[in-house]
Parts: sequence; C-alpha cells; structure tokens
Amino acid sequence: MIPAVSDPATLRRQVRQWRAAGETTALVPTMGDLHQGHLRLVAAARERAARVVVSIFVNPLQFGPGEDYEQYPRVLERDRARLADEGADLVFAPSVEALYPRGVDATTRLTVPDLEAVLCGAERPGHFSGVATVVAKLFNATEPDIAVFGEKDYQQLLLLRRMAEDLDFAVEIAGVATVREDDGLALSSRNGYLTEEERARAPTLHATLQSVADRLMAGERDFPMLERDAMAQLQEAGMEPSYIAIRRAHDLAIPTTDERPEALRVLGAARLGRARLIDNVPVGVPEP
Ligand code: PAF
Repeated sequence: MIPAVSDPATLRRQVRQWRAAGETTALVPTMGDLHQGHLRLVAAARERAARVVVSIFVNPLQFGPGEDYEQYPRVLERDRARLADEGADLVFAPSVEALYPRGVDATTRLTVPDLEAVLCGAERPGHFSGVATVVAKLFNATEPDIAVFGEKDYQQLLLLRRMAEDLDFAVEIAGVATVREDDGLALSSRNGYLTEEERARAPTLHATLQSVADRLMAGERDFPMLERDAMAQLQEAGMEPSYIAIRRAHDLAIPTTDERPEALRVLGAARLGRARLIDNVPVGVPEP
C-alpha cells in the first residue's frame, strides 16, 4: 500500500529530503475517488519528476450551499490501493482541520479576477476562489517543482496557472488531455451520479461541443448562433445546459471573428439528473 501522511509539516519534510538528495517532486492534486483520468495525471507526473505526491482532499471551500460536499465519495483506502501500481510515492490526505485550523469560514481566501466569475464560476460563486485557495495551500505544503491538472477542468487549469504566476509560486503547471470513455464521455467522479438511462445520454455533451469545433474549423464564425444551436441540441437530449461558450483558448476571453480556429476552445456545462457535467474541446487539434 502506498504510504499516506495527513500532516502538512510531515509532507514538507519528506519533499525537502527528496530535494536535498537531488530529486524533483510532482504534485497531483485530487479530491479522491480516483479513476483512469487521475491515473493518467499520475503517469504524466511520473514522466516529469523523480517523486510523485498525490493529494486527496475533498475541499469544503469549493462547494456551494446545496452542492454535493456531503455526498462526494470518500474512499481513501480504495484510492491508495489503486495508486499502488502507478508509481506514486506518497499520498497526502489531510483532514479539514489540518488545512483550515481557523475554520472554513474564517480562513483567508484568494480571488483570481477575470477568470473566477465567468462560465462555471458564474453558476458556482466562490467555487474557484475555494479551488485557488486550497491549491495554494497544497503548493505551500508540498513545494513541488511541477503540478499536474486535467484539461477536463479547463477553466480551473487556466485559473491555477494565473494564480501561480501572480503569487510567484516557483512551480510549473502542466495540463493533461481529457480521458474519455469510448463513447466520448469525459471521465469524472460525478458520472457515478448518473442513472443507466442518463449515462446513455451523457455523451451528447461531448458530441455537441465537438460539432461546434468542427463547424468552426469549417469556417463558420457566427459564435452566438453556434452557441445557441448547441444549447438547443442539449435541451433536445433532455439536458439542462448552463452554458456553451466559444472562447480564446489561452485566456477564456470572448474571441473576435478573425481569431484563428486553432486559438479557440469550446466549453460547456449541463445538468443531467443529479450530475453537473462539464467538458471542453480544442478546435482543429485532435485529442489523443
Ligand atoms: O480538480 C479537482 O479535483 C479539485 O478542484 C482540486 C484541483 C483537487 C482542488 O480541490
């Protein structure tokens, strides 16, 4: 079984020992309930650093009222067993009290202007502030050379890059392409909330985003019309779309019509039963 520590000071000591021995460390932050998508992040981390730390922490700061904080699966022993053959060196699984000793409501929080209130952030106020805060704390506890995040949470990836840059964290942030089921559905712990019937409809989100990307590649440039068409497609499939957005890939700004298609990203979120699904695709660049 892969070793686990719960105390930030113990983690920091271990990573410093590795550094003193000339070894680099990669951090893979997760909320646990690990699936193949997470294991791909661990593999990417392994390729980039001598040591790999996987953090497992269901962060109360990033859940809003009425969201699934209580229900979020907590399966630490299964996660540790799953990591056994993946080449990770250490799990960091702190308690809420260890990360927020003053209490969740009293803790200092980060804000990341421009990126935190749009798209998913518009529907989930405070969510990205909670993500930025916990990741900054994980960076301080681990002092990693590199941190690895999935592109499925594309807005999160860009926001964390911005946060690390603005706060001068000496960490490289690597993004890893989304891992999908054969029918296109992006792997996510929240897929477990889908009924069998909803699961069969869920790949429509990816198919719809991809069809927008294909139309952009074919030269279409009426972005609002493409977004409206895609929203209607999702509604026809019985989903409740929150947004479909064509954005500049490097900063999520609204693009001008003369932007190269390869500089764009198509992002979307939709509710299906109990699950809130999010996904995004590049334009003109096939996903692996
Ligand atoms: O992507 C996630 O699982 C979480 O948002 C993260 C980055 C681990 C922060 O809690």
